[in-house]
Amino acid sequence: MKKAMLVFGTRPEAIKMCPLVNELKDRSGEFETVVCVTGQHREMLDQVLHVFGVEPDHDLHVMKLGQTLFDITSDVLLKIKSVLEEERPDVVLVHGDTTTSFAAALAAFYLQIPVGHVEAGLRTRDLYSPWPEEFNRQAVDVVSKWYFAPTETSRQNLLDEAKPGDRIFVTGNTGIDALRHTVRDNYTHPELDWAEGSRLILITAHRRENLGEPMHRMFCAIRRVMEERPDTKAIYPIHMNPQVRKAAHEELDGFDRLRIIDPLEVVDFHNFMARSHLILTDSGGIQEEAPSLGKPVLVMRDTTERPEGVAAGTLRLVGTGEENIYREFSRLLDDTAAYAEMSRASNPYGDGHASERIADILSR
Ligand code: UD1
Ligand code: UDP
Repeated sequence: MKKAMLVFGTRPEAIKMCPLVNELKDRSGEFETVVCVTGQHREMLDQVLHVFGVEPDHDLHVMKLGQTLFDITSDVLLKIKSVLEEERPDVVLVHGDTTTSFAAALAAFYLQIPVGHVEAGLRTRDLYSPWPEEFNRQAVDVVSKWYFAPTETSRQNLLDEAKPGDRIFVTGNTGIDALRHTVRDNYTHPELDWAEGSRLILITAHRRENLGEPMHRMFCAIRRVMEERPDTKAIYPIHMNPQVRKAAHEELDGFDRLRIIDPLEVVDFHNFMARSHLILTDSGGIQEEAPSLGKPVLVMRDTTERPEGVAAGTLRLVGTGEENIYREFSRLLDDTAAYAEMSRASNPYGDGHASERIADILSR
């Protein structure tokens, strides 16, 4: 019997790790599965745990208002030590590029426990974009023993860094696993009823490097474009970060065709995506989900570690400059050929069976 400990702490990690938790738990004859959440996020993490019915065995409760990278890194590192020593798993599985993942992988390395990196090999090669995530994902890959790369491109990134090819597995992205079950034709929600008859724009934004001026520029551009087009309505399920909330309310309050609402549960969010006309975001996970749904995304960032979605035609990088976002957003609303070009569904991030593949590999 192998003991696998999964460590995660934020919303996107939970969305992509819970399918794997449940897959490993279904194989209880083969695996003892231990879940340790850091609580880097609280409400947004608990929402996801509830949806997937996952009850953590350990919770480090690290979140505090306005937490810094120093707080998260040191709190996770110090608090996870005794959990790892008590559980002594055969493998610690972490996901992606958060500070939870970095600190948990480092702790496992200090105790010489093998690390498996789910969603390994994504790269922009710019340590400041996204910041600090590009550092986190590279650092996790330095200490990992097994690499679960979502795509061939990410496998190649790892090979370019001389990671051993026999420990890299292309599995697809576990985020797509959830999408197979969430989107329904008969889904309804009062906010979608409100937007009925208009082109629905879905918005999210939260990146650390975009806090402050870039975020103000994004919101100004979005408001200008929408004020000029009365057939549009926007829903913005806002991140709980108070800095994001302050900027959004300063720029967007008083415009009644744009509604700022609390974070949606993932089932709701996926159905909102499926019903939207287009999406404006700086999120990573949304860039992976949108191609499967054939929804155009304007990515409000300067770089992306998800080139597959750009190549598939669904994603366009528009930066954080007000004029560029204004121009690209306007064009996508007005140019039907450009819109149709970006609306073709494809599955660059896998077929929705990534968790099964990872479990198969771990059992070998
Ligand atoms: C984190 C990750 C980022 C990921 C994002 C997903 C790092 C450094 N950043 O960034 O990679 O893309 O999660 O959303 O790991 N808050 C709450 N309740 C919650 C969640 C957050 O109140 O459930 C507030 C707190 O005041 C917290 C702040 O949001 O201090 C920021 O949270 P934090 O995890 O530090 O940063 P994110 O931007 O969420
Ligand atoms: N999401 C959600 N509710 C929301 C907004 C997003 O469940 O209100 C989901 C979305 O479908 C995706 C993930 O959260 O799976 C993305 O998380 P986030 O943007 O916070 O982080 P990132 O992916 O940028 O790290």
